[in-house]
Amino acid sequence: MSETFKAVRITDGVYWVGAIDWNIRNFHGYSTYSGTTYNAYLVMAEKVTLIDTVKEPFKNELLSRISSVIDPGKIDYVVSNHAEMDHSGYLGEFIEKYRPEKVFASKKGVEALEDHFGIGDQLIAVDDGEKIDLGSDSLICLETKMLHWPDSMVTYLAGKKILFSQDGFGMHHASYGRFDDMIDENILKREAAKYYANILLPFSPVVKKVLKKIGDSGLEIEMIAPDHGPVWRSGVEKILSLYDRWASRELRKKAVIACDSMWGSTTVMARVIGQSLSESDVDVAYLNLSTAHRSDLAAELIDAGALIVGSPTINGTLFPTVADALYYIRGLKPTGIVGAAFGSYGWSGEAVGQITELLEKMNIDLAGESVRAKYVPSGHLIERCSELGREVAKRLEALPKNFPGEKP
Ligand code: FEO
Repeated sequence: MSETFKAVRITDGVYWVGAIDWNIRNFHGYSTYSGTTYNAYLVMAEKVTLIDTVKEPFKNELLSRISSVIDPGKIDYVVSNHAEMDHSGYLGEFIEKYRPEKVFASKKGVEALEDHFGIGDQLIAVDDGEKIDLGSDSLICLETKMLHWPDSMVTYLAGKKILFSQDGFGMHHASYGRFDDMIDENILKREAAKYYANILLPFSPVVKKVLKKIGDSGLEIEMIAPDHGPVWRSGVEKILSLYDRWASRELRKKAVIACDSMWGSTTVMARVIGQSLSESDVDVAYLNLSTAHRSDLAAELIDAGALIVGSPTINGTLFPTVADALYYIRGLKPTGIVGAAFGSYGWSGEAVGQITELLEKMNIDLAGESVRAKYVPSGHLIERCSELGREVAKRLEALPKNFPGEKP
């Protein structure tokens, strides 16, 4: 295997041997404007160990980076922390070709890898808390079921105090910056938040439990090495505290307006509502769904106290972009927010009622009275849009404008 690509030293005897996917822009429905990385790690202990693999098309990049340190055939152990294909896609072929002595996964991981690739019989299932002896070091396995798959686990390299956290604490961001302190702080926070909102948000109660489990374990963590994005070495405390905030659903005085329009009337309504919210000291994120991606809407909802959705009626139903976004957000289960609906229509005008129904199904508390405008809003309907903005603002009164020490 050529050494086109090189491993990156994480610390003495531990290397990043993953792949950088500069070109991906759609990760199962999540917009990845700056690509992503599939991280794998090589631990040069007495038992040489590979933590996770990569998405199958990137196998040569993985092998090349491993080969810059050691012959892949000399890898003794492989640990699969997560069975999703971006980390296990090359696992079966790797096992067949290089015959590592042992391959470990959680119990659910063994099942999932059997279901995906028919390789379950070649794996060893580890228990929660089990220690894998690497001779000169050891890995402690901690189950993190439903973060974000049933098989998910993390592993802690005791001698180096590194937590290999699979998807947790990750982000989709392609970069040569392998550590958090090599990447602009605003990019780090934005991409980590977007990742949390789109991948982990529905499992926030589990995140709380896992954070407690990590805290209670007494394990000292010097680095967090996730399966996407940079390794956290300077900002370990920061990312742990952000996860605690996101999992606790701490919200601020911010409303997200998500809408689309056929002939501009719903847009006018959205802008009047936004203006009214702004006059009431509420921060507004305005997303025109004809151009804004559903996953960016999810990202905005990570700290917003309100979601206000607008749609024209087309053939008796929601505008397609609005339906797409709402069904996506429904799956992410944002809790603790208030909602409102508005939109223009020509004759039957079902969309606003359908938005309201969907918001109710999402257990979102409705604020104010929804507004429907026939064809073009004017006069009292413009005033009702302003009133809707004020009503939503009232419901956010108890929330902070910003979090302590932070600007929005
Ligand atoms: Fe990065 Fe859940 O896979």
